[in-house]
Amino acid sequence: MAAKRFLNGAKLQSHYPFTKKPFIVSAPMRLISTPKLALTVSRAGGLGFIGAGSDINHLPAQLDEAASLLSQNPIPNTPDGMLPLGIGIINWGASLSIFTQEVQKWKPVAVWFFAPRSPADLVTWTQAVRDASPDTKVWIQIGTVASALEVAQECKPDVLVVQGSDAGGHGLARSAGLMALLPETSDALADRGLSIPLIGAGGIADARGVSAALALGASGVCMGTRFLACPEAQISQGYRRAVLEAQDGGVNTARTNVYDHIRGTTEWPEIYNGRGVINKSYVDSEAGMSHEENKRLYAAEESKGDEGWGVQGRMTTYAGTAVGLVKKEMGAREVVEEILTEVSGVIGGVKGLCE
Ligand SMILES: Cc1cc2nc3c(=O)[nH]c(=O)nc-3n(C[C@H](O)[C@H](O)[C@H](O)COP(=O)(O)O)c2cc1C
Repeated sequence: MAAKRFLNGAKLQSHYPFTKKPFIVSAPMRLISTPKLALTVSRAGGLGFIGAGSDINHLPAQLDEAASLLSQNPIPNTPDGMLPLGIGIINWGASLSIFTQEVQKWKPVAVWFFAPRSPADLVTWTQAVRDASPDTKVWIQIGTVASALEVAQECKPDVLVVQGSDAGGHGLARSAGLMALLPETSDALADRGLSIPLIGAGGIADARGVSAALALGASGVCMGTRFLACPEAQISQGYRRAVLEAQDGGVNTARTNVYDHIRGTTEWPEIYNGRGVINKSYVDSEAGMSHEENKRLYAAEESKGDEGWGVQGRMTTYAGTAVGLVKKEMGAREVVEEILTEVSGVIGGVKGLCE
């Protein structure tokens, strides 16, 4: 049974012939995951996603930019007529008509859905993509065993992204870490005869995390926080510095909706919140400061530019618990290559402990 599950990885790879093993994905971080980041990851043998987010009005320009970058420098082994990247959206806020129009026009190799208002919305979006571009694979990010089963049965996605509680940015307010969530999800699907490749997301930042996720039942991994320190990610120097400085993410990051309140992103369905580095906004909120006052101070902090970040600042630094493993600024190509190179050494080391 266990060995059979590893075949899912091979199936996944065959959809994306430009990728290498193990399968590494860069997350669709809203407006941070630029076409440049996504294509650098795909060019290095991973699969990069553009982060179109909830208000997807930027998507046409993002895809124009991707096409222009590719026309100067195509990626070998891209399936005919397709874009060698994925598009990630946040369903609760996105426009289905803009999305399907763009998917039909550009035919990305994958789309990524996350955070619908209701599970039934995912059925509509999945069908719309399959009508618009039958070869585009549908990925859906979930965070519990129950939602994995529901989505698997209702939508029959091509890939399930299993997001654990360590993940940076938004995720379920109540969820488990990947150590339990991946194997339980894998078993629950297998018990019902559902064979869908799983991608582990949340707290993975290097070859050790990748190896562990593969052992837990994932066919590949997705990283967000690790790519924040790449120059291709569209974040300010202050944000990047805050990520590089943060350590010991279990105590120095928190899941909270304070950051949504101060930034005015309060339309998220109630079951979600976001993980970010603990800073003054969070500490003040915990001490009883009202959202109104906190929001006012946040707005004032924005004028400080790069100085408004870090534990003594107020600017929101969404990042996961693995933030302490992100120690230096590094190109996205180097990140992917480093992991691809190191992973078999890690797995070999583990094997040595078992034989
Ligand atoms: C800054 C940031 C922004 C994110 N934005 C999105 C998003 O727009 N859509 C989405 O589906 N996931 C988003 N995520 C979550 C990722 O898809 C993924 O689950 C997460 O990054 C994995 O955990 P890690 O950050 O520990 O690698 C975001 C994550 C981060 C760190």
